[in-house]
Amino acid sequence: MTKPPAPSPRPFHYPAPGSPLHCGKVSLATLARRYQTPLYVYSADQIAERLALFQHAFASRDHLVCYAVKANSALAILKLLAGRGAGFDIVSGGELQRVLTAAPDAAGRVVFSGVGKTAPEIDFALNAGILQFNVESEAELALLAARARKLQLPARFALRVNPDVFADTHPYISTGLREHKFGIDIRRARALYKSVARNRWLEAHGVSVHIGSQIRSAQPFGQAIERVAKLVGQLRREGIVLKAVDAGGGLGIDYHGGPFDAAAKVAEYAAAVEDGLAGFEGQLLIEPGRFLVAQAGALVARVLVVKRNGNKTFVITDAAMNDLIRPALYQAHHDIVPVSPRAGSAHAVDVVGPVCESGDFFARDRKLAPIKPGDLVALLDAGAYGLAQSSNYNTRLRPAEVLVEGSKARLIRRRETIADLLAPELDLDAN
Ligand code: LLP
Repeated sequence: MTKPPAPSPRPFHYPAPGSPLHCGKVSLATLARRYQTPLYVYSADQIAERLALFQHAFASRDHLVCYAVKANSALAILKLLAGRGAGFDIVSGGELQRVLTAAPDAAGRVVFSGVGKTAPEIDFALNAGILQFNVESEAELALLAARARKLQLPARFALRVNPDVFADTHPYISTGLREHKFGIDIRRARALYKSVARNRWLEAHGVSVHIGSQIRSAQPFGQAIERVAKLVGQLRREGIVLKAVDAGGGLGIDYHGGPFDAAAKVAEYAAAVEDGLAGFEGQLLIEPGRFLVAQAGALVARVLVVKRNGNKTFVITDAAMNDLIRPALYQAHHDIVPVSPRAGSAHAVDVVGPVCESGDFFARDRKLAPIKPGDLVALLDAGAYGLAQSSNYNTRLRPAEVLVEGSKARLIRRRETIADLLAPELDLDAN
């Protein structure tokens, strides 16, 4: 029996021949007219579906999906996820503020990761009553103990261990090897748990691991968890009983379109994690970011100019590297499709932005159907690490964001104004 075709990985589609690209039931041409470009468009339905895949895959055990806020920190998306039972993985006081703004009752579902937490950030999180601090060094553990004592608020912590597992991904986003700055050498962790066992301000609540991002195979996750589970077993025998294992995030997507079965991917990931956990009966935390939001989002841009230099054709859009830096930073691939395709044969073009840098490109030598100035294009799979990594370089205003739910599109972030950008700056003559 042949398997049924995998469902489309993306909510973006042409509902009928000749009709413009839609997000769910909403035309991107209409959205671009209403809100201008560049414009980020996200499918709320897909984000909710992806969360449900993880929740379903781990339904047989106590678990919490802690969405990695850094992937896309839009308040509306945090609210949507919180409403469906998600927790959050944060890496700064700012991200905690966002979570509490979007979902004031979610503090107890927050884990705090990151290699350099400041005392004010720790105090903020202690006062909020977060679930767990993922501690990345001995020095941080000492600081956490000192702040907890000062505030008289015991801190639940997990050591983030570095399992020395290789995961095949871009070197900038791989984190699980001993040579990386992340985590505590797993061989040191046992001694460290024991050294603070009698500290009344520190509660050894869990252990965490995160080996990197955009990891396509489930195997390294299983391998890392297996090492972590072994540590949990050793500690248990020594009288330190951890309640939670945090498996981190990192499950990758396919940026090259084609068939991609998200449900099968999550099931495969869950099987590897469960295998690694073996007999552990406590709570499982996971921190997916990209997998929940990347394919739900597109950056819609308008073509300003099509020009030829030598034998190259450049398609210059009103979006640029400041709006979506992944191609420039990681040589990342994003599929680019016309919102209203024109007939004719495809030609290789460079799709670039107007920023004054040769690194300001979205695609090089990409075969695209004929494109003319004024046309709209959509850069796909831009829901994760898109607006979240945007900047105002070249004093460019950051895009607006729209969230589509069924046939309803809502503006969730207005386009910046020049007044927003200039607001923090002080007049030289006024001080
Ligand atoms: N947990 C921790 C501790 C992390 O450091 C990260 C991502 C995640 C969870 C979520 O990982 P995800 O499920 O999204 O792979 N800017 C890069 C990705 C950086 C990832 C950093 N850490 C990109 O655009 O590809």
